Amino acid sequence: MNTNNIQEKFNLMFGKAPSLYRSPGRINIIGEHTDYNEGFVLPAAIDKAVYVAISKRDDQQVHLHATKYDETFQFDLSDIKPTEKQWPNYILGVVAEIQKKNLKIGGFNLMFEGDIPGGAGLSSSAAIECSVAFALNEQFSLGIDKMTLVHIAQKAEHNFAGVMCGIMDQFASVFGKKDHAIMLDCKTLEYKYVPINLPGYTFVLFNTNVKHNLASSAYNDRRASCFKGVEWVKEHHPEVNSLRDVTIAMLDEHVKAKDQDVYVKCKFIVEEIERLQLACIDLEVNDLVSLGKRMLETHEGLSKAYEVSCEELDYLVDQVKDNSNVLGARMMGGGFGGCTINLVKEEAVEELTATLTKSYTEKFDLELTSYIVKIENGSETVKLPELQSS
Ligand code: GLA
Repeated sequence: MNTNNIQEKFNLMFGKAPSLYRSPGRINIIGEHTDYNEGFVLPAAIDKAVYVAISKRDDQQVHLHATKYDETFQFDLSDIKPTEKQWPNYILGVVAEIQKKNLKIGGFNLMFEGDIPGGAGLSSSAAIECSVAFALNEQFSLGIDKMTLVHIAQKAEHNFAGVMCGIMDQFASVFGKKDHAIMLDCKTLEYKYVPINLPGYTFVLFNTNVKHNLASSAYNDRRASCFKGVEWVKEHHPEVNSLRDVTIAMLDEHVKAKDQDVYVKCKFIVEEIERLQLACIDLEVNDLVSLGKRMLETHEGLSKAYEVSCEELDYLVDQVKDNSNVLGARMMGGGFGGCTINLVKEEAVEELTATLTKSYTEKFDLELTSYIVKIENGSETVKLPELQSS
């Protein structure tokens, strides 16, 4: 993205040169809905990001501008509460969490823009939260460590956007590393960078360009089902704290008879936690065929058992699952729309994209967008180019 634009716009609007920071969106190779169950995830930060331009003010006011909507929003640091409008909440939420830690910030002007498509399951909201948390930490020298920044951003999503998300998106946005995925243990928060080495293959995202309304309420419902299952198992196994500690045998014994739906949801998660560990071995030994199979299994589970897919996502996976140039495909992220992630032979990408775009549009009367993802670094300061005077 050309960062000259935001710099110029900021100068025009606020009459001052800004500092600039970026936080990326993410993909997740496998391990879906496992983060809030204390399992593992395998995300990577991508080459699409949110850019935040910021400068300090002398008062306690905060002036925000979202270039995407050409909208402005102002508030006073002594009066932080959620608003009707969606986008300021991500910033308000971060400020509120910083204040809760008794860290001192002053007023600021902030403008943001980015190239992460919204509603695509690429975590554009986490990228806003992380870029703002990162920017405020730098501007006001708050000394917050990276893991705490992740928690601040996650809490902002919980308390100001109302989605009880796990830690994956914010973690990937802050901790991303070029050409690496991150195997994160969401229980201990230990993590390991895994090189992404896909000789002859690449990850391609196909964006359904739909986001069904259900997304955030269903997300919180699924989470509640998982917690219910854990509660029932815990009555007999007090040492159990999350689905990470649960086996299928425990579910068979203590959940199945009580509630079939809760059972099916929990079983998928226990299997997915196991699947991720095997997928990491696949990546390490470069067994892309096996990795691809596991991606397809994940999709099957997310669609039929966990029920967070939708017609459009299922269609895209169906269309490629028997194609010998595609080793794996699945819906990615929270679900109910957004992208599928596909492991595709490099030389076949162009033709596959063309065929799929045509058939998807014919079937749903919707555009299909595709992205070949590059894996990039997490949150960072952007060195500003000198503005050319005209
Ligand atoms: C959303 C949430 C994440 C994670 C995924 C599903 O992206 O924000 O925390 O739960 O869904 O894996």
